[in-house]
Amino acid sequence: MLETVKTTAPVLILLGPPGAGKGTQARKLEEGFGLVQLSTGDLLRAAVAAGTDAGKAAKAVMEAGDLVSDEIVINILRDRLADADCQQGVILDGFPRTTVQAEALDALLAESGQKINAAVSLEVDDAAMVTRISGRYTCGGCGEGYHDSYKQPAQDGICDNCGGSDMKRRADDNAETVASRLTAYHAQTAPLIAYYDCKGALQSIDAMGEIDGIAQKLGGIVKAAIS
Ligand code: AP5
Repeated sequence: MLETVKTTAPVLILLGPPGAGKGTQARKLEEGFGLVQLSTGDLLRAAVAAGTDAGKAAKAVMEAGDLVSDEIVINILRDRLADADCQQGVILDGFPRTTVQAEALDALLAESGQKINAAVSLEVDDAAMVTRISGRYTCGGCGEGYHDSYKQPAQDGICDNCGGSDMKRRADDNAETVASRLTAYHAQTAPLIAYYDCKGALQSIDAMGEIDGIAQKLGGIVKAAIS
């Protein structure tokens, strides 16, 4: 009988509080390494916009800055991970966020002979996160992220990446909700740093500097982790 040879595509996790730069850096890694960014926040916002049952259940929870149930998020992630484009490797942005999610991910990957290459914790100061988040906006056409102070497009209101002019701000990017999101991060997600440290998969990076400098350091970590 012929044995099936499985190739294991890279799986990287970006950990960090709201505003740490997970989405910003994941997009750069997509371009640099041909991996697919998988953001559970984006998947949930798409479900809310589409009015699915999961989206209806998630909407108020997200607006309050709390975590959506593990069951909903794990189901959404499992479906997306099965898509053809994800077979080339993924960067998980915003997942896992609880120990239950981390254990579910381990089990899911084990089914296909995969494992996590690295979990990178983006280390930042909480105080700076409110400023980062309240100044954030995104191109509605391609998803490129911008900031009122730190990252502006070359031409005001026009996306550098796709030329679109439909800039959007998120409903949960206000000071009150950000405070709840930071509380949820410290209570439920920060313990995952120890979880991945125990598995020997944790890498940490100072994410308070310039975006491009952080991308360079992160790129080095990812290159070593997937080679
Ligand atoms: P999600 O969409 O995942 O939001 P988040 O984790 O709160 O993270 P953000 O997207 O706000 O920040 P980021 O780290 O990606 O920063 P960014 O790169 O944009 O989740 C939203 C909600 O969905 C949750 O609250 C929850 O309800 C639900 N949810 C999602 N996943 C879930 C899960 N697994 N389980 C349960 N519920 C879940 O950067 C922010 C800004 O700063 C940008 O403007 C950027 O340009 C700028 N910036 C980035 N880096 C720098 C830098 N180095 N210097 C200066 N500015 C910078």
